[in-house]
Amino acid sequence: MKKIRLKLQERSYDIIVGRGAAGELSGIVKKMRFSGPIAVITDRVVEKKTRSVYKKALDAVTNELTVITVPSGEKSKSVDMFRDVSQKLANRTKGHKPLIVALGGGVIGDLAGFVASSYRRGVPYIQVPTTLLAQVDSSVGGKVGIDLPEAKNLVGAFYQPKAVLVDTGFLPTLPARHIRNGMAEVIKYGIIKKRSFFALLEDEMERLLELKSERLDDVVYECLRIKARLVEKDERDDKDLRIALNFGHTLGHGIEAAAEYTNRYNHGECVSIGMVMASDIAVRLGMFSEKGLLKVKRLLKKAGLPVSVKGIGLKDILRTHRFDKKFVSGTNRFVLPTGIGKVEVVEDIPGILIRTVLREYVS
Ligand code: NAD
Ligand code: GLY
Repeated sequence: MKKIRLKLQERSYDIIVGRGAAGELSGIVKKMRFSGPIAVITDRVVEKKTRSVYKKALDAVTNELTVITVPSGEKSKSVDMFRDVSQKLANRTKGHKPLIVALGGGVIGDLAGFVASSYRRGVPYIQVPTTLLAQVDSSVGGKVGIDLPEAKNLVGAFYQPKAVLVDTGFLPTLPARHIRNGMAEVIKYGIIKKRSFFALLEDEMERLLELKSERLDDVVYECLRIKARLVEKDERDDKDLRIALNFGHTLGHGIEAAAEYTNRYNHGECVSIGMVMASDIAVRLGMFSEKGLLKVKRLLKKAGLPVSVKGIGLKDILRTHRFDKKFVSGTNRFVLPTGIGKVEVVEDIPGILIRTVLREYVS
Protein backbone atom coordinates (compact mmCIF):
# COMPACT_ATOMS: atom_id res chain seq x y z
CA MET A 1 0.00 0.00 0.00
CA LYS A 2 1.13 3.55 -0.71
CA LYS A 3 0.65 6.68 1.33
CA ILE A 4 0.35 10.35 0.40
CA ARG A 5 0.52 12.98 3.13
CA LEU A 6 -1.69 15.97 2.26
CA LYS A 7 -0.10 18.83 4.14
CA LEU A 8 -2.41 21.55 5.44
CA GLN A 9 -0.95 22.39 8.86
CA GLU A 10 -3.34 21.16 11.57
CA ARG A 11 -5.72 19.88 8.88
CA SER A 12 -3.10 17.54 7.33
CA TYR A 13 -4.04 13.94 6.68
CA ASP A 14 -2.94 10.68 5.09
CA ILE A 15 -4.36 9.18 1.93
CA ILE A 16 -3.75 5.43 1.93
CA VAL A 17 -4.01 3.78 -1.48
CA GLY A 18 -4.15 0.13 -2.46
CA ARG A 19 -6.04 -3.13 -2.15
CA GLY A 20 -7.21 -3.65 1.41
CA ALA A 21 -6.81 0.02 2.44
CA ALA A 22 -10.28 0.01 4.08
CA GLY A 23 -8.95 -2.51 6.60
CA GLU A 24 -6.82 0.35 7.97
CA LEU A 25 -10.00 1.93 9.40
CA SER A 26 -9.51 0.38 12.83
CA GLY A 27 -5.89 1.51 13.01
CA ILE A 28 -6.82 5.06 12.01
CA VAL A 29 -9.60 5.27 14.62
CA LYS A 30 -7.19 3.99 17.30
CA LYS A 31 -4.56 6.51 16.21
CA MET A 32 -7.16 9.28 16.53
CA ARG A 33 -7.87 8.05 20.09
CA PHE A 34 -11.56 8.38 19.25
CA SER A 35 -13.88 6.71 21.73
CA GLY A 36 -17.43 7.95 20.93
CA PRO A 37 -20.07 6.57 18.57
CA ILE A 38 -19.12 5.88 14.95
CA ALA A 39 -21.69 6.54 12.21
CA VAL A 40 -21.19 4.96 8.80
CA ILE A 41 -23.06 6.98 6.18
CA THR A 42 -23.45 5.01 2.97
CA ASP A 43 -25.90 4.14 0.21
CA ARG A 44 -28.00 0.99 0.04
CA VAL A 45 -26.01 -0.61 -2.78
CA VAL A 46 -22.62 0.04 -1.20
CA GLU A 47 -23.76 -1.03 2.27
CA LYS A 48 -24.55 -4.57 1.08
CA LYS A 49 -21.33 -4.88 -0.89
CA THR A 50 -19.01 -3.64 1.85
CA ARG A 51 -20.73 -4.83 5.04
CA SER A 52 -18.20 -7.51 5.90
CA VAL A 53 -15.27 -5.10 5.43
CA TYR A 54 -16.50 -2.12 7.43
CA LYS A 55 -18.08 -4.18 10.19
CA LYS A 56 -14.92 -6.18 10.79
CA ALA A 57 -12.80 -3.01 10.93
CA LEU A 58 -15.15 -0.96 13.09
CA ASP A 59 -16.46 -3.64 15.46
CA ALA A 60 -12.84 -3.94 16.57
CA VAL A 61 -12.79 -0.33 17.79
CA THR A 62 -16.34 0.52 18.92
CA ASN A 63 -19.47 -1.01 20.36
CA GLU A 64 -21.43 2.06 19.33
CA LEU A 65 -21.65 1.58 15.58
CA THR A 66 -24.61 3.01 13.70
CA VAL A 67 -25.23 2.76 9.96
CA ILE A 68 -27.26 5.37 8.07
CA THR A 69 -28.16 4.45 4.51
CA VAL A 70 -29.60 6.65 1.77
CA PRO A 71 -30.87 5.69 -1.70
CA SER A 72 -28.03 5.45 -4.23
CA GLY A 73 -27.68 8.20 -6.83
CA GLU A 74 -27.23 11.94 -7.27
CA LYS A 75 -30.73 12.72 -5.98
CA SER A 76 -29.49 11.89 -2.48
CA LYS A 77 -27.26 14.98 -2.56
CA SER A 78 -30.30 17.04 -1.62
CA VAL A 79 -31.48 19.38 1.14
CA ASP A 80 -34.09 16.77 2.16
CA MET A 81 -31.50 14.01 2.51
CA PHE A 82 -29.14 16.32 4.37
CA ARG A 83 -31.90 16.96 6.94
CA ASP A 84 -32.88 13.29 7.12
CA VAL A 85 -29.30 12.08 7.74
CA SER A 86 -28.61 14.86 10.29
CA GLN A 87 -31.78 13.97 12.22
CA LYS A 88 -30.92 10.25 12.24
CA LEU A 89 -27.48 11.15 13.52
CA ALA A 90 -28.98 13.29 16.28
CA ASN A 91 -31.43 10.57 17.34
CA ARG A 92 -28.92 7.74 17.29
CA THR A 93 -25.89 9.43 18.85
CA LYS A 94 -27.77 11.54 21.41
CA GLY A 95 -25.53 13.86 23.39
CA HIS A 96 -22.29 12.55 21.84
CA LYS A 97 -20.05 13.82 19.08
CA PRO A 98 -19.82 11.03 16.53
CA LEU A 99 -17.05 10.13 14.10
CA ILE A 100 -18.51 9.83 10.61
CA VAL A 101 -17.29 7.33 8.03
CA ALA A 102 -18.33 8.37 4.50
CA LEU A 103 -18.46 5.01 2.71
CA GLY A 104 -19.43 5.17 -0.95
CA GLY A 105 -19.08 7.13 -4.16
CA GLY A 106 -18.86 10.88 -4.63
CA VAL A 107 -22.52 11.36 -3.70
CA ILE A 108 -21.93 9.88 -0.25
CA GLY A 109 -18.58 11.62 0.23
CA ASP A 110 -20.11 15.00 -0.57
CA LEU A 111 -23.31 14.46 1.46
CA ALA A 112 -21.71 12.80 4.51
CA GLY A 113 -18.82 15.29 4.45
CA PHE A 114 -21.31 18.17 4.43
CA VAL A 115 -23.21 16.63 7.34
CA ALA A 116 -19.86 16.26 9.17
CA SER A 117 -19.00 19.91 8.47
CA SER A 118 -22.20 21.23 10.03
CA TYR A 119 -23.49 18.68 12.55
CA ARG A 120 -22.74 20.10 16.02
CA ARG A 121 -20.66 22.73 14.14
CA GLY A 122 -18.33 20.06 12.84
CA VAL A 123 -17.43 16.49 13.72
CA PRO A 124 -14.49 14.43 12.41
CA TYR A 125 -14.95 12.22 9.36
CA ILE A 126 -13.03 9.68 7.30
CA GLN A 127 -13.53 9.17 3.58
CA VAL A 128 -13.68 5.58 2.32
CA PRO A 129 -14.42 6.00 -1.41
CA THR A 130 -15.81 3.01 -3.31
CA THR A 131 -16.16 4.32 -6.90
CA LEU A 132 -13.27 5.09 -9.22
CA LEU A 133 -14.47 8.71 -9.44
CA ALA A 134 -14.46 9.12 -5.67
CA GLN A 135 -11.13 7.31 -5.35
CA VAL A 136 -9.28 9.57 -7.80
CA ASP A 137 -11.03 12.84 -7.03
CA SER A 138 -13.96 13.63 -4.75
CA SER A 139 -12.77 11.94 -1.53
CA VAL A 140 -9.73 14.22 -1.32
CA GLY A 141 -9.58 17.97 -0.83
CA GLY A 142 -12.49 18.69 1.48
CA LYS A 143 -15.05 20.05 -0.97
CA VAL A 144 -18.35 18.81 0.43
CA GLY A 145 -21.90 19.81 -0.34
CA ILE A 146 -25.30 19.18 -1.81
CA ASP A 147 -27.18 20.18 -4.96
CA LEU A 148 -30.08 22.59 -5.42
CA PRO A 149 -32.50 22.28 -8.34
CA GLU A 150 -30.82 25.45 -9.69
CA ALA A 151 -27.34 23.93 -9.85
CA LYS A 152 -24.95 21.30 -8.54
CA ASN A 153 -22.95 21.73 -5.34
CA LEU A 154 -24.47 25.15 -4.74
CA VAL A 155 -24.57 24.66 -0.96
CA GLY A 156 -21.42 23.36 0.67
CA ALA A 157 -18.21 23.88 2.57
CA PHE A 158 -14.49 23.20 2.63
CA TYR A 159 -14.07 20.60 5.34
CA GLN A 160 -11.09 18.26 5.32
CA PRO A 161 -11.39 14.61 6.38
CA LYS A 162 -9.11 13.07 9.02
CA ALA A 163 -7.98 10.36 6.58
CA VAL A 164 -8.85 8.92 3.17
CA LEU A 165 -8.70 5.16 2.61
CA VAL A 166 -8.65 4.37 -1.10
CA ASP A 167 -9.28 0.64 -1.40
CA THR A 168 -9.03 -0.40 -5.05
CA GLY A 169 -10.30 -3.82 -3.98
CA PHE A 170 -13.82 -2.29 -4.03
CA LEU A 171 -13.69 -1.57 -7.76
CA PRO A 172 -14.48 -5.02 -9.28
CA THR A 173 -18.16 -4.81 -8.24
CA LEU A 174 -18.57 -1.36 -9.78
CA PRO A 175 -20.66 -1.40 -13.01
CA ALA A 176 -18.63 -0.73 -16.17
CA ARG A 177 -20.44 2.56 -16.76
CA HIS A 178 -19.15 3.83 -13.42
CA ILE A 179 -15.59 2.74 -14.21
CA ARG A 180 -15.86 4.87 -17.37
CA ASN A 181 -17.39 7.67 -15.28
CA GLY A 182 -14.29 7.78 -13.06
CA MET A 183 -12.03 7.48 -16.08
CA ALA A 184 -13.21 10.93 -17.24
CA GLU A 185 -11.62 12.47 -14.12
CA VAL A 186 -8.51 10.29 -14.58
CA ILE A 187 -8.08 11.62 -18.15
CA LYS A 188 -8.66 15.14 -16.82
CA TYR A 189 -5.46 14.87 -14.72
CA GLY A 190 -3.45 14.01 -17.82
CA ILE A 191 -4.79 17.01 -19.74
CA ILE A 192 -4.39 19.55 -16.94
CA LYS A 193 -1.06 18.48 -15.50
CA LYS A 194 0.95 15.65 -17.02
CA ARG A 195 1.55 14.79 -20.65
CA SER A 196 3.39 11.52 -19.82
CA PHE A 197 0.40 10.39 -17.72
CA PHE A 198 -1.93 11.13 -20.67
CA ALA A 199 0.36 8.99 -22.88
CA LEU A 200 0.26 6.15 -20.33
CA LEU A 201 -3.55 6.30 -20.41
CA GLU A 202 -3.51 6.13 -24.23
CA ASP A 203 -1.49 2.89 -24.00
CA GLU A 204 -3.28 1.26 -21.07
CA MET A 205 -6.92 2.37 -21.48
CA GLU A 206 -8.43 -0.98 -22.53
CA ARG A 207 -6.73 -2.87 -19.70
CA LEU A 208 -7.57 -0.14 -17.18
CA LEU A 209 -11.26 -0.27 -18.09
CA GLU A 210 -11.27 -4.02 -17.50
CA LEU A 211 -9.37 -3.50 -14.22
CA LYS A 212 -6.75 -5.86 -15.65
CA SER A 213 -3.93 -3.35 -15.86
CA GLU A 214 -1.05 -3.84 -13.45
CA ARG A 215 -0.81 -0.06 -13.48
CA LEU A 216 -4.31 0.50 -11.96
CA ASP A 217 -3.09 1.30 -8.43
CA ASP A 218 -0.31 3.51 -9.85
CA VAL A 219 -2.86 5.40 -11.96
CA VAL A 220 -5.12 6.01 -8.95
CA TYR A 221 -2.08 7.03 -6.87
CA GLU A 222 -0.84 9.46 -9.56
CA CYS A 223 -4.25 11.19 -9.76
CA LEU A 224 -4.32 11.59 -5.98
CA ARG A 225 -0.75 12.88 -5.90
CA ILE A 226 -1.61 15.57 -8.48
CA LYS A 227 -4.79 16.50 -6.61
CA ALA A 228 -3.10 16.56 -3.18
CA ARG A 229 -0.37 18.93 -4.42
CA LEU A 230 -2.95 21.32 -5.94
CA VAL A 231 -5.07 21.28 -2.77
CA GLU A 232 -2.00 21.99 -0.62
CA LYS A 233 -1.23 25.09 -2.68
CA ASP A 234 -4.79 26.35 -2.98
CA GLU A 235 -7.02 24.70 -0.39
CA ARG A 236 -9.91 27.14 -0.78
CA ASP A 237 -9.77 27.39 -4.55
CA ASP A 238 -9.03 31.11 -4.60
CA LYS A 239 -5.52 31.25 -6.11
CA ASP A 240 -6.28 30.09 -9.66
CA LEU A 241 -4.47 26.76 -9.07
CA ARG A 242 -7.03 24.28 -7.75
CA ILE A 243 -9.49 25.57 -10.32
CA ALA A 244 -7.55 23.49 -12.90
CA LEU A 245 -9.39 20.47 -11.44
CA ASN A 246 -12.58 22.01 -12.79
CA PHE A 247 -11.47 21.61 -16.39
CA GLY A 248 -14.55 20.46 -18.31
CA HIS A 249 -16.83 21.17 -15.36
CA THR A 250 -18.27 24.58 -16.36
CA LEU A 251 -20.35 23.29 -19.26
CA GLY A 252 -20.28 19.78 -17.75
CA HIS A 253 -22.16 20.97 -14.68
CA GLY A 254 -24.54 22.83 -16.99
CA ILE A 255 -25.35 19.58 -18.80
CA GLU A 256 -25.74 17.71 -15.51
CA ALA A 257 -28.19 20.28 -14.12
CA ALA A 258 -30.05 20.50 -17.44
CA ALA A 259 -30.45 16.70 -17.34
CA GLU A 260 -31.90 17.22 -13.84
CA TYR A 261 -29.43 14.81 -12.23
CA THR A 262 -31.13 11.82 -13.82
CA ASN A 263 -28.94 8.91 -14.85
CA ARG A 264 -29.24 9.94 -18.51
CA TYR A 265 -25.78 11.47 -18.07
CA ASN A 266 -23.64 10.88 -14.99
CA HIS A 267 -21.00 13.28 -13.65
CA GLY A 268 -18.03 11.81 -15.54
CA GLU A 269 -19.96 11.67 -18.80
CA CYS A 270 -20.86 15.36 -18.44
CA VAL A 271 -17.24 16.21 -17.60
CA SER A 272 -16.13 14.28 -20.70
CA ILE A 273 -18.41 16.34 -22.95
CA GLY A 274 -17.44 19.51 -21.05
CA MET A 275 -13.72 18.79 -21.61
CA VAL A 276 -14.31 18.43 -25.36
CA MET A 277 -16.29 21.68 -25.45
CA ALA A 278 -13.65 23.56 -23.43
CA SER A 279 -10.89 22.18 -25.67
CA ASP A 280 -12.83 23.30 -28.75
CA ILE A 281 -13.28 26.79 -27.27
CA ALA A 282 -9.49 26.85 -26.71
CA VAL A 283 -8.89 25.87 -30.36
CA ARG A 284 -11.21 28.64 -31.57
CA LEU A 285 -9.36 31.13 -29.36
CA GLY A 286 -6.05 30.03 -30.92
CA MET A 287 -4.75 28.65 -27.59
CA PHE A 288 -4.85 24.92 -28.36
CA SER A 289 -4.11 22.89 -31.50
CA GLU A 290 -6.64 20.95 -33.59
CA LYS A 291 -4.33 17.96 -33.10
CA GLY A 292 -4.61 18.36 -29.32
CA LEU A 293 -8.41 18.46 -29.55
CA LEU A 294 -8.39 15.26 -31.61
CA LYS A 295 -6.13 13.52 -29.08
CA VAL A 296 -8.49 14.50 -26.25
CA LYS A 297 -11.55 13.26 -28.16
CA ARG A 298 -9.79 10.03 -29.19
CA LEU A 299 -8.81 9.12 -25.62
CA LEU A 300 -12.27 9.91 -24.24
CA LYS A 301 -13.87 7.76 -26.95
CA LYS A 302 -11.38 4.98 -26.19
CA ALA A 303 -12.59 5.17 -22.59
CA GLY A 304 -16.16 4.70 -23.86
CA LEU A 305 -17.16 8.23 -22.85
CA PRO A 306 -19.53 10.52 -24.77
CA VAL A 307 -18.09 13.51 -26.63
CA SER A 308 -21.43 15.12 -27.52
CA VAL A 309 -24.89 15.58 -25.93
CA LYS A 310 -28.17 14.15 -27.13
CA GLY A 311 -31.67 14.91 -25.92
CA ILE A 312 -30.95 18.00 -23.81
CA GLY A 313 -31.82 21.49 -25.00
CA LEU A 314 -29.05 23.96 -25.73
CA LYS A 315 -31.02 26.69 -23.97
CA ASP A 316 -31.28 24.58 -20.81
CA ILE A 317 -27.51 24.05 -20.72
CA LEU A 318 -26.90 27.78 -21.27
CA ARG A 319 -29.32 28.66 -18.49
CA THR A 320 -27.98 26.15 -15.93
CA HIS A 321 -24.27 26.70 -16.60
CA ARG A 322 -24.66 30.32 -15.45
CA PHE A 323 -25.16 29.06 -11.88
CA ASP A 324 -21.68 27.53 -11.94
CA LYS A 325 -19.56 28.78 -9.05
CA LYS A 326 -16.77 29.69 -11.45
CA PHE A 327 -18.93 32.63 -12.54
CA VAL A 328 -17.81 35.59 -10.46
CA SER A 329 -19.94 38.77 -10.54
CA GLY A 330 -21.68 37.40 -13.62
CA THR A 331 -18.39 36.98 -15.54
CA ASN A 332 -17.64 33.49 -16.81
CA ARG A 333 -14.33 31.74 -16.09
CA PHE A 334 -13.19 28.72 -18.05
CA VAL A 335 -10.24 26.38 -17.58
CA LEU A 336 -8.84 25.91 -21.10
CA PRO A 337 -5.97 23.71 -22.34
CA THR A 338 -2.94 25.25 -24.01
CA GLY A 339 -1.36 21.84 -24.62
CA ILE A 340 -1.69 18.31 -23.24
CA GLY A 341 -0.56 18.74 -19.63
CA LYS A 342 -1.17 22.46 -19.34
CA VAL A 343 -4.20 24.69 -18.73
CA GLU A 344 -4.97 28.36 -18.21
CA VAL A 345 -7.90 30.19 -16.66
CA VAL A 346 -9.65 32.48 -19.14
CA GLU A 347 -12.35 34.96 -18.18
CA ASP A 348 -15.17 36.52 -20.11
CA ILE A 349 -15.46 34.11 -23.03
CA PRO A 350 -17.94 35.73 -25.44
CA GLY A 351 -21.42 34.22 -25.19
CA ILE A 352 -21.52 33.84 -28.97
CA LEU A 353 -18.46 31.57 -28.89
CA ILE A 354 -19.99 29.42 -26.13
CA ARG A 355 -23.22 29.10 -28.14
CA THR A 356 -21.33 28.25 -31.34
CA VAL A 357 -19.43 25.45 -29.61
CA LEU A 358 -22.55 24.17 -27.86
CA ARG A 359 -24.35 24.01 -31.23
CA GLU A 360 -21.50 21.83 -32.53
CA TYR A 361 -21.93 19.23 -29.78
CA VAL A 362 -25.62 19.37 -28.79
CA SER A 363 -28.26 17.59 -30.87
P1 NAD B 1 -22.25 7.75 -6.82
O1 NAD B 1 -21.76 8.07 -5.48
O2 NAD B 1 -23.68 7.96 -7.11
O3 NAD B 1 -21.87 6.24 -7.16
C1 NAD B 1 -22.24 5.69 -8.40
C2 NAD B 1 -23.03 4.39 -8.24
O4 NAD B 1 -22.14 3.35 -7.90
C3 NAD B 1 -24.10 4.41 -7.18
O5 NAD B 1 -25.23 3.77 -7.70
C4 NAD B 1 -23.50 3.58 -6.05
O6 NAD B 1 -24.49 2.94 -5.29
C5 NAD B 1 -22.65 2.59 -6.81
N1 NAD B 1 -21.47 2.08 -6.12
C6 NAD B 1 -20.58 2.78 -5.39
N2 NAD B 1 -19.54 2.00 -5.06
C7 NAD B 1 -19.78 0.77 -5.57
C8 NAD B 1 -19.06 -0.45 -5.59
N3 NAD B 1 -17.85 -0.56 -5.06
N4 NAD B 1 -19.62 -1.51 -6.23
C9 NAD B 1 -20.83 -1.39 -6.83
N5 NAD B 1 -21.54 -0.26 -6.88
C10 NAD B 1 -21.02 0.81 -6.25
O7 NAD B 1 -21.47 8.58 -7.93
P2 NAD B 1 -19.94 8.97 -8.18
O8 NAD B 1 -19.78 8.97 -9.64
O9 NAD B 1 -19.01 8.19 -7.34
O10 NAD B 1 -19.85 10.47 -7.63
C11 NAD B 1 -20.47 11.52 -8.31
C12 NAD B 1 -20.58 12.70 -7.39
O11 NAD B 1 -19.28 13.14 -7.00
C13 NAD B 1 -21.25 13.91 -8.02
O12 NAD B 1 -22.23 14.39 -7.16
C14 NAD B 1 -20.14 14.93 -8.15
O13 NAD B 1 -20.59 16.24 -8.06
C15 NAD B 1 -19.26 14.55 -6.99
N6 NAD B 1 -17.87 15.02 -7.12
C16 NAD B 1 -17.35 15.72 -6.07
C17 NAD B 1 -16.05 16.15 -6.11
C18 NAD B 1 -15.45 16.86 -4.92
O14 NAD B 1 -14.33 17.36 -5.01
N7 NAD B 1 -16.13 16.89 -3.80
C19 NAD B 1 -15.25 15.88 -7.24
C20 NAD B 1 -15.82 15.16 -8.30
C21 NAD B 1 -17.14 14.73 -8.22
N1 GLY C 1 -13.09 18.40 -7.94
C1 GLY C 1 -12.69 19.77 -7.88
C2 GLY C 1 -11.90 20.11 -6.67
O1 GLY C 1 -11.71 19.32 -5.80
O2 GLY C 1 -11.45 21.24 -6.57
